[in-house]
Amino acid sequence: MRSRVPVATLFSLGLSLLAAAASAATPAPTISTQSYTWKNVKIGGGGGFTPGIIFNPSQKGLAYLRTDIGGVYKLNADDSWTPLVDFADSDHWDYWGSDAIATDPVDPQRFYVAAGMYTNSWDPNNGTILISTNQGKTFTESPLPFKVGGNMPGRGVGERLAVDPHSNNILLFGARSGHGLWKSTNFGATWTKVASFPDPGTYAPDPTDSSGINSDKTGLTFVTFDSTSGSSGQATPRIFVGVASVGSPNIFRSDDAGATWNAIQGMNSSWIAHKGVLSPKEGALYLSTSDGVGPNDGSIGALYKYDIASGTVTDISPVSGSDLIFGFGGLAVDVQRPGTVMVAALNSWWPDGQVWRTTDGGGSWSPLWAWEAYPVLNKYYAYSDALAPWIGNDYTDPAIVQQIGWWMEALVIDPFDSDHWLYGTGETVYGGHDLLNWDTVHNVTLKSLADGIEEDAVLGLISPPAGPSLLSAVGDNGGFVHFDLTKAPTAAARFSPLWSTNSDLDFAGNIPSTIVRIGNSNGEFALSTDAGNTWSQNIGGTSNANSGKIALSANGTNILWSSGNAGVLLSQSGGAFARVASLPAGAAIAADRRNDSVFYAATGSKFLVSSDGGKTFVAAAGALGASTAPVKLAVHPKTSGDVWVSTDKGLFHTTNAGASFAAVPGITQAWAIALGAPESTNSYPAVFAAADVAAGSGGGVGYYRSDNAGETWVRVNDAAHGFGSVSSNVLTADPRVYGRVYIGTNGRGIFYGDKS
Ligand SMILES: *[C@@H]1O[C@H](CO)[C@@H](O)[C@H](O)[C@H]1NC(C)=O
Ligand SMILES: *[C@@H]1O[C@H](CO)[C@@H](O)[C@H](O)[C@H]1NC(C)=O
Ligand SMILES: *[C@@H]1O[C@H](CO)[C@@H](O)[C@H](O)[C@H]1NC(C)=O
Ligand SMILES: *[C@@H]1O[C@H](CO)[C@@H](O)[C@H](O)[C@H]1NC(C)=O
Ligand SMILES: *[C@@H]1O[C@H](CO)[C@@H](O)[C@H](O)[C@H]1NC(C)=O
Repeated sequence: MRSRVPVATLFSLGLSLLAAAASAATPAPTISTQSYTWKNVKIGGGGGFTPGIIFNPSQKGLAYLRTDIGGVYKLNADDSWTPLVDFADSDHWDYWGSDAIATDPVDPQRFYVAAGMYTNSWDPNNGTILISTNQGKTFTESPLPFKVGGNMPGRGVGERLAVDPHSNNILLFGARSGHGLWKSTNFGATWTKVASFPDPGTYAPDPTDSSGINSDKTGLTFVTFDSTSGSSGQATPRIFVGVASVGSPNIFRSDDAGATWNAIQGMNSSWIAHKGVLSPKEGALYLSTSDGVGPNDGSIGALYKYDIASGTVTDISPVSGSDLIFGFGGLAVDVQRPGTVMVAALNSWWPDGQVWRTTDGGGSWSPLWAWEAYPVLNKYYAYSDALAPWIGNDYTDPAIVQQIGWWMEALVIDPFDSDHWLYGTGETVYGGHDLLNWDTVHNVTLKSLADGIEEDAVLGLISPPAGPSLLSAVGDNGGFVHFDLTKAPTAAARFSPLWSTNSDLDFAGNIPSTIVRIGNSNGEFALSTDAGNTWSQNIGGTSNANSGKIALSANGTNILWSSGNAGVLLSQSGGAFARVASLPAGAAIAADRRNDSVFYAATGSKFLVSSDGGKTFVAAAGALGASTAPVKLAVHPKTSGDVWVSTDKGLFHTTNAGASFAAVPGITQAWAIALGAPESTNSYPAVFAAADVAAGSGGGVGYYRSDNAGETWVRVNDAAHGFGSVSSNVLTADPRVYGRVYIGTNGRGIFYGDKS
């Protein structure tokens, strides 16, 4: 059995977000904002982990979903999803991580997000409760005095944020990192610690992890109000809270609105409850447990049914003994059909993920598939990835078509529609509209229902002057040829060979159908001579290099690779990659777009040029001011020697191959840059820059365009489109469509913007 490659969305790119102090050496430019229309380039299918999905119990069809690095979404009537936190800008890129969401059962207009990405040093910000009174159209921010870890281990437990169903001014939030239980009595505006709560959680997946990721204490796992206790207008007395602690009972019950707490007895306290779901008409709390906090672990656990009146706990696990090789994650009850419950294996890596359903409260179970005989599974479902045809099969075992998924923490049944269900995986959202068929013909439709969710971390983009408009290198899902920006790519449009993570790509300026790409593991280098349709990996010999940035000479002869692990390497005419002695590791690189012999590089404040196809680089006379960290080189598509360099100390331009540089006035720091189609045939290419502009008016960290080689700039992004971490993002501009720029983000897929 090959181990499955999980879609682990743990990108921590571009974490140095410190803006340089504005320099007042040159007059500050005036920045106007130009109206742009921003849309996602459709990849579809989500593309990453969906740790939580919730339905509102009072308003039919109202549902929300959270991702770990790509924000939160609201469900539309046509099964598509609308993103809600695209306003997250570079100061609050952590808003794209959310550890919990809550919908108000009393006032369905109210919606809350516990936002924040990491509890370690990668995330400079404390967590925030984002508060909406209009179902996510707009939010106000309530800062927390601790961090929230939306992309941390244990992010699939929950929900650990909940609104009191009888007194909706009251919210409870179960924190990480030993901070315990927190309460708001004013609709989330302010928060205080619940001093009576006995156990902040002692479990951490790996206390020795020096990065601070696996050593963080997961904390509280869920908060569930018992809506059958108490009455409207009064704080709900009965509350259940799960805690990630092992060795002593770890589910707590209050019967006095949180004044006192008692541990529930009768469960295996070596296991951690991921979910505690109330079945109101049964007077029961169902609990799915696992021996880890997930999402990537779990080798044993149980599903328990806790009878609230008697206090008895029953193990109702659908499998046991040697068949039980996973913990339990996703857990759903059908509130309209007492006793109908579904549970997911958190990670059943082989032969496929699994979901079970009972209609008698756990007395008997039926699965989503069962063995016929290896390698044949009886699949009690019809599969459809029509909305994201690239998802297809997952190939742990080539003999078995695997479709159900892994990291299955989110599982819900629509409280108003027993046929409608959804679950989240490490890669997408599945579900359907014929769930009751499970109980009759035992065969349901399983569809990828992640239309509108774009959760890819994008590492490289190119827009060649001919052929398809866009090709992408993405984390976890490989990369794509985007033949149609508005349609999810077919399986054939996904790169093959498929590496989990592609780090970069480039095309040859004179023959743009020749394209190279690199991946994050050794030997992942491939060349295409047909615009990305087919790829050959037998170029440049076997290489011990991986990741970084790649540059292809203008005629595709030589390939320069600034790798992440083995310095800068050159392959000449298909030969083996060899170290380039004259460039240090990590140098920013680019190929001239016209002259096959010329490459450019930048390091520190130095700009270097190679005239011999990348074999040797010589420092140019011009320098990049006070720069210490060049980011990106953008080369004029037609004119040799015309190069832009973004750095930590500004944006620099040369028209003489580095003999001299001009610093663009007012730009104090720049990240991704790109040149695109000019406004008119004879004008200079449109220059796009992700930059910090110290402007007389306008300005700040944003996305800018200049139509006159940097003399004046317009801002092209607005408050509704922050694009997250500016230092993580990649840009390319369309050489065929004036004004069009593509922004590849770290968790919200690819956007393209057009002048509106
Ligand atoms: C986070 O909250 C703590 C506790 O209130 C505070 O000391 C710290 O300054 C805050 N950090 C940030 C970045 O606001
Ligand atoms: C409780 O969990 C531990 C750890 O997984 C396991 O070894 C033990 O057998 C479990 N006990 C019962 C009664 O299931
Ligand atoms: C369930 O229905 C699908 C689609 O009709 C079919 O392919 C599949 O074989 C059925 N499953 C079983 C076990 O009959
Ligand atoms: C590179 O391609 C251009 C344009 O096709 C051609 O004119 C030139 O001769 C080629 N140069 C080399 C070194 O192959
Ligand atoms: C390409 O660049 C090299 C090195 O600078 C130069 O010698 C050669 O003349 C250039 N070729 C063309 C066609 O401009």
